[in-house]
Amino acid sequence: MITVSLSAAAATFVAGGGRDIDTARVPGLPALEAGAHVQLVGAAGEEVGIAVADPDNAKLRVLAVPADGFTKLDAALLGLRVERALAWRKRLGLPGAENAYRLVHGAGDGLPGFACDVMGRAAVVYAYGEGLRALGKQLAEAVVGFAQLEGAVIKRRSKGGSDDVPQDVIGRVDEKAIVREHGVAYEVHPLAGLNVGLFTDMREQRLGLPRFAPGQRVLNLFSYTGALGLACARAGAASVTNVDTSQGVLAWAKGNFDRNQQAGRYEAGDARRYLQRAARDKERYDLVIVDPPSAGVGWATGRDYPELIAAASAVIPEGGLLWLASNTVELGPLAKLAGKGLRGRASVIVEQAGLPPEYPTVVAQPQDRYLQVLVLRLL
Ligand SMILES: C[S@@+](CC[C@H](N)C(=O)[O-])C[C@H]1O[C@@H](n2cnc3c(N)ncnc32)[C@H](O)[C@@H]1O
Repeated sequence: MITVSLSAAAATFVAGGGRDIDTARVPGLPALEAGAHVQLVGAAGEEVGIAVADPDNAKLRVLAVPADGFTKLDAALLGLRVERALAWRKRLGLPGAENAYRLVHGAGDGLPGFACDVMGRAAVVYAYGEGLRALGKQLAEAVVGFAQLEGAVIKRRSKGGSDDVPQDVIGRVDEKAIVREHGVAYEVHPLAGLNVGLFTDMREQRLGLPRFAPGQRVLNLFSYTGALGLACARAGAASVTNVDTSQGVLAWAKGNFDRNQQAGRYEAGDARRYLQRAARDKERYDLVIVDPPSAGVGWATGRDYPELIAAASAVIPEGGLLWLASNTVELGPLAKLAGKGLRGRASVIVEQAGLPPEYPTVVAQPQDRYLQVLVLRLL
């Protein structure tokens, strides 16, 4: 194993729980092969931890610290991490034979550079760099064993979030499966691209949204497979209109609505164009859900979000709700963007939320809390 000396600041970062070291913070670091295991030492030669080189993301991923008592990164260490991660999800009541939930969330579970969603009887493991792929397979084996699953797919996630991802499979993983969350059934495609049909980070939003939905006309923009709209439909919304540029995901959304005996409308096209047309036709919606990707079809959140907020507010009557989400810390506070987009229209914040408890993050890495949800009541 190669030994790398850290600066006092980097060693303090690790001692304080930091697990994703920027290689720019390690002056004189030799070129490391992706996946190389590295012994980290402090200025006085004391042990700081063991990391994996992830040059794709310019990071050293610290997987073990001296307190763990491991001298190498192996199946036993991964097993311990998975066992602890599972214990926390069990305490939250998430596991179940057909359930969908996040089992491993990066540094917060002592597994920086990795994530894992359980989708019924299969796991979807994400490895965020090529150098993490081999360990990702070992992690998948630990997950399958501890969570008693049939198999796992390991997806090599790249920075751009492209949907075309290299993947490895262990055991049995079906192309399509029905999973459950809070008793609601969703179809997932574990072997599809990066996204498999259900975003586990929105779990608590799917629980909370129904409070706002009974009797309301709901517009679910960037609907994907319809999960947020479905939560509203089940709560007795007067109508739910799902809008997405992808015909394929809209058909998937309809399948989810049908499966749960709910009716919806499905509109293929650009969200902003839909809003322009709706405003022109004087359509009104009491609850508008806006959950855009950080980059989409003709869309870049940083540049376009305020305009989108303005267009959405134009179809919301007095007292109606605007539900906003952002997945990118770079975007800054959502309330600030909303203020820009609302252009002086009076509003109050009725809810502000973020990641659910099964998405732990380390205090030393505040940037890891990427999700922001803001619910505004427009006056
Ligand atoms: C982050 S996902 C939305 C997740 C969804 N709200 C959920 O909870 O499952 C983004 C979706 O936006 C769609 N999309 C991208 N650009 C779009 C655009 N300009 N107008 C409408 N939908 C778009 C994508 O096809 C994708 O399904």
